[in-house]
Amino acid sequence: MTTPAPAPIISARDLHKSYGRRPNRFEALKGVSFQIREGESVAIVGKSGSGKSTLMHMLALLDAPDTGTLHLEGVDTRTLGGAKLNRTRNATFGFVFQQFFLTGSNSVLENVILPMKIAGVGRAERKRRGIGALEQLELADKVKNKALNLSGGQKQRAVIARAW
Ligand SMILES: Nc1ncnc2c1ncn2[C@@H]1O[C@H](COP(=O)(O)OP(=O)(O)OP(=O)(O)O)[C@@H](O)[C@H]1O
Ligand SMILES: [Mg+2]
Repeated sequence: MTTPAPAPIISARDLHKSYGRRPNRFEALKGVSFQIREGESVAIVGKSGSGKSTLMHMLALLDAPDTGTLHLEGVDTRTLGGAKLNRTRNATFGFVFQQFFLTGSNSVLENVILPMKIAGVGRAERKRRGIGALEQLELADKVKNKALNLSGGQKQRAVIARAW
């Protein structure tokens, strides 16, 4: 007997997004549909200007499509607004930004546990999880260092720990 496939974590249907006004209107997304299921690793590939960042901003609830629907774990994202949207983004996504966005004057651990703090995870638990993530990324000895003083590769790993 086989168990039924779980509902997709992300389900995008016919997403459209345009920038600007006529006659300079630019259609960045022209009907994008796909599903991502638990455990899948997916890369979005395309040439520069093809709409990857535009799509990522929709998926991460940082921007909304003009038309089309996006379901996250079965929830229609159009039903999310304000605080609920922010809470969903905080709870659902781990972001690794190219510019890092580490707070240099704070410790590595403080940077890593910030999303958990926002999510309301208790002090002891977020410290435990933060140190655990940093240990796995071979940054255990840098927990108390200021983020400013990390090397480039160490910063990359610190933001991955924060996205955990
Ligand atoms: N605010 C905007 N106003 C007008 N056009 C925009 C705006 N933002 C993006 N675009 C256009 O939309 C298209 C898609 O941009 P997007 O940033 O999604 O591309 P990308 O695939 O991430 O590219 P890259 O690989 O260079 O990062 C591009 O042609 C871009 O010029
Ligand atoms: Mg981009």
